[in-house]
Amino acid sequence: MTSGTSAGPTVGTTTGTGTGAAGLSVHTSPTPSGPVSFPAGFAWGAATAAYQIEGSASADGRTPSIWDTFSHTPGKTLGGDTGDVAVDHYRRRADDVALMAELGLTAYRFSVSWSRVQPTGRGPAVQRGLDFYRGLVDDLLARGITPALTLYHWDLPQELEDAGGWPVRETAERFAEYAALVGEALGDRVEMWTTLNEPWCSAFLGYGSGVHAPGRTDPVAALRAAHHLNLGHGLAAQALRSVLPARARLGISLNPSAVRAKTEDPADLDARRRIDALANRVFADPILHGRYPADLLADTVRVTDWSFIADSDLTAIHQPLDFLGINYYQPTVVSAPGPDAPTGPRSDGHGASDFSPWPGSEDVVFHPAPGERTAMGWSVDPSGLHELLMHYTAEAPGVALYVTENGVAYDDEPGPDGSVHDPDRIRYLDGHLRAIRRAINDGADVRGYFQWSLMDNFEWAYGYSKRFGLIYIDYETQQRTPKSSAHWYAQAARSGQLPPLP
Ligand code: FCB
Repeated sequence: MTSGTSAGPTVGTTTGTGTGAAGLSVHTSPTPSGPVSFPAGFAWGAATAAYQIEGSASADGRTPSIWDTFSHTPGKTLGGDTGDVAVDHYRRRADDVALMAELGLTAYRFSVSWSRVQPTGRGPAVQRGLDFYRGLVDDLLARGITPALTLYHWDLPQELEDAGGWPVRETAERFAEYAALVGEALGDRVEMWTTLNEPWCSAFLGYGSGVHAPGRTDPVAALRAAHHLNLGHGLAAQALRSVLPARARLGISLNPSAVRAKTEDPADLDARRRIDALANRVFADPILHGRYPADLLADTVRVTDWSFIADSDLTAIHQPLDFLGINYYQPTVVSAPGPDAPTGPRSDGHGASDFSPWPGSEDVVFHPAPGERTAMGWSVDPSGLHELLMHYTAEAPGVALYVTENGVAYDDEPGPDGSVHDPDRIRYLDGHLRAIRRAINDGADVRGYFQWSLMDNFEWAYGYSKRFGLIYIDYETQQRTPKSSAHWYAQAARSGQLPPLP
């Protein structure tokens, strides 16, 4: 295996022409105020994921994924919520696509349920499973909406978890086979392909803190999972290139953290470096540069010697990318361990656990970022998105960028007339779209924006309690009601310009 010789650039320290105490980048261009327009061809999208919306969990040969097992395990999700029914999108697909068209979306990001297409994670594809996605893609194309397909949004077939899951090499190999099956079936009509969604969450929440499926709490398994997810990405990218037409564009969606140190104290700056390695560079370095960061290997030496990395793995992982997907919600603020370190279960924003998702850096202290809070308790700070876009512009020249997720949960409720007013979400979208426009002004090649999420849905460990949608779902009746943010976003998508705030 190879590794970098230095720590490499840290997200949050080197993205600007200067840095403030908290690592904030200082750019010359101001956030655009007043009317703002976007380049022609900019994708105005929304995103979803299979397990969060489809339901019909055992229809047409689908078998359980790790999220079916996890959500059916008492105590794992709020209120015991599961994705059994979700928002019934599997049966309401055509109506949902019609709604997308009404909202003027020009692109739609969805994920394929692996166990719907290849129930055991091995062997031939199930035609009925593929037919659902072919139908979805055809409906989208018929309405002029560009499909953006994600192969894996966290729903590993349970049989593959039983055989070892992401901590074992075979899962990466199975993933490449599955990628080829989907590529062969849909390559004639889907141009935009994403291998993995947020491998950080799969590895570190799934196998480290255990707040996500499969709910394991083993730091070695978490690091092994991170490597085999990287390998799965690389092998799947190669498999896809061999079956897809040349016009296909291929990428991955990461959720990099804009990591900020609480103070400029060297110990806090070191905490930032450690978390940057575990949040960002553990994926970006092998995928973009074909190496693991030397400081990451050193920081985790008491956890593992990384001997599970085979000689050819880094070459396999380091595949050319057409685009990088950035998922962004809030910045991360850290400091060195100190006397005031909080004790008891910690929450990383996705659920509370006694186990850390940060192998080897468990003692780093996380602080709430300043600013307004959302219903998730996350802070609102568009500057982190600008910072990340500028960082990856510098780190991955020639690779187009998409914001493949960004959005917000609020406690939306219908008013007496049934309409749902969510001016806070409109302000959130406006602020983040302005941050993107600023990044474009500063030279970032951002090609589009996928709002998370098209509609309220199963928010993982939080079940149906958190509403991220542009479209309100009445879970009793499955009635869909576009919120006022949906109408605002539709106007933006139609005109290519941000409408005034309400
Ligand atoms: C991201 C996930 C997405 C959704 C949002 C709120 O981490 O990719 O499925 O849960 O967070």
